[in-house]
Amino acid sequence: MEEGNGKAASHRIVASDDIEVSTYLEIAKEKQGVQAAPKPGDIPHGVREAVAIIDFGSQYSHLIARRVRECSVYCELFPYDSPLSKIMSINPRGFILSGGPASVYEKNAPLTPVGIYESHLPVLGICYGMQSITHQLGGTVAPGSKHEYGQAVLHVSDQSSPLFKDLDSSLTVWMSHGDEIMEMPAGFRSSAYTENSPNAVITDGGKLFGLQFHPEVAHTPQGKQIIRNFLYNICGCRGTWTPGNFIHESIASIKEQVGDGRVICALSGGVDSAVAAKLVHAAIGDQLTCIFVNNGLLRREEPERALETFRKNLRMNVVYVDATDRFLDQLKGVIDPEKKRISIGGEFIKVFESEAKKLGKIDFLTQGTLYPDVIESATPETKAAAKIKTHHNVGGLPSKMALTLIEPLRYLFKDEVREVGLELGLPEDMVWRQPFPGPGLAIRIIGEVTRERLEILRGADWVVMDEIKKAKLYRQMWQTFAILTDVHSVGVMGDYRTYGYLVAVRAVTSQDAMTADWARLPYNLLATVSNRIVNEVPGVNRVVYDITSKPPSTIEWE
Ligand code: XMP
Repeated sequence: MEEGNGKAASHRIVASDDIEVSTYLEIAKEKQGVQAAPKPGDIPHGVREAVAIIDFGSQYSHLIARRVRECSVYCELFPYDSPLSKIMSINPRGFILSGGPASVYEKNAPLTPVGIYESHLPVLGICYGMQSITHQLGGTVAPGSKHEYGQAVLHVSDQSSPLFKDLDSSLTVWMSHGDEIMEMPAGFRSSAYTENSPNAVITDGGKLFGLQFHPEVAHTPQGKQIIRNFLYNICGCRGTWTPGNFIHESIASIKEQVGDGRVICALSGGVDSAVAAKLVHAAIGDQLTCIFVNNGLLRREEPERALETFRKNLRMNVVYVDATDRFLDQLKGVIDPEKKRISIGGEFIKVFESEAKKLGKIDFLTQGTLYPDVIESATPETKAAAKIKTHHNVGGLPSKMALTLIEPLRYLFKDEVREVGLELGLPEDMVWRQPFPGPGLAIRIIGEVTRERLEILRGADWVVMDEIKKAKLYRQMWQTFAILTDVHSVGVMGDYRTYGYLVAVRAVTSQDAMTADWARLPYNLLATVSNRIVNEVPGVNRVVYDITSKPPSTIEWE
């Protein structure tokens, strides 16, 4: 670990040109609810190594968190205006400042909490984060004469920098900035440059570093190594964030929280609720009861398979409720996609509540909430975003049940959940299951949902899944499924005219479902899928392949 020289503390830290340092510090402390900024040595390093990411609103902030976790270091994202006490509560060993859309020289531009500099812990500023360091420590940032977007070649002038250990002297990096550093803060120097940015990487020679490019994106091929170097060579992390350690810590804390209380969990058959349930089960055994509601909208053989896994293989208490009739009765005559979603979500809550009541006194409810949901709900902009669909998650249960929530996966990304699931002994096919929406097949049937139409869709869906698995493409796809449209078209089978349904096939690749691309499936595979569907599924005489990405489409059709 590189020892710092504590130079940051001697910098005159500013918020903006017209506010005095002392005034700013007072405002900052008041705003952040901090009595005094932490002093060196004050910060105990917890057992869990952690790094705090300060989010200035970049579209890549989530990616920084993912890259850090991939280096086996725990991290959390904090909006830039979070109270310092909250940021410090994870006992960070260092900070990463994200990029962002603002310009540091604008009035009221977001800035790094002052206590971060005063902590004397390592700081890595990325793009806007670097400009925030520059501006606050006395340098100058201004609009650049040339904007730099896209890939650039970075020439490392200081090969001895711990950031560039084990890296080449020229690297391809991804730039996306209009502002640039005109003057570095006193004591800073440049350690790398590009054609357009003489100060593409800066450092105070101690623990403060700034990168003008984005190491977190795939377009910076060696970016993860740079992040890793920061974490290991500068923050002194050792990489203790492993599924095994996570399970160990979680079991201990669930045991302590639950004591001899009772917990319920709604199983959907999906990976998130399965891993959450398994983790809680590992901690408290039969104090956990799972409820699995069959809403009649699941894939062929799905309820049987899920039950078998939980009851027989995992020996968990599962209450199985076949509520098909109730759900389908409610869906009679419903065509509007939003009304379908609301009907299914409402019915689910009623069924779940009545089953839970039968179990007697329950204290806790466990849910498979993941970190992307947590981040999203903490970001005001996304909260205000226009509603596209009313999501029904199996875990989204009524507050009137007055149960304490246990969300053991709240800080995990999907890939981490899968690793934890495997480590806990869940079967591979459950852990690698593609996401399946809460409202199930209902939102893949355009028009009314009836038993007959569900059967047609199940048949087509079965063929798609079967062929995708045979082609060994299942894991590479985010989702692959069939949609039953309300279009009929004329066909010919044997010597007869047919007038049958049009089925659409959708296969998408995605990282997180926020954006998705249609999968370029091999023509031969598409031909087999189409051929099998029209031959094996009565009532269907035409198959089309959906070649739209998200945006502008969404993944599901409704
Ligand atoms: P869209 O269609 O909005 O879907 O692009 C994005 C991802 O979310 C899934 N999805 C849902 N998941 N409850 C869920 O649990 C829902 O109501 C729901 N609607 C869509 C969809 O399958 C895709 O993975």
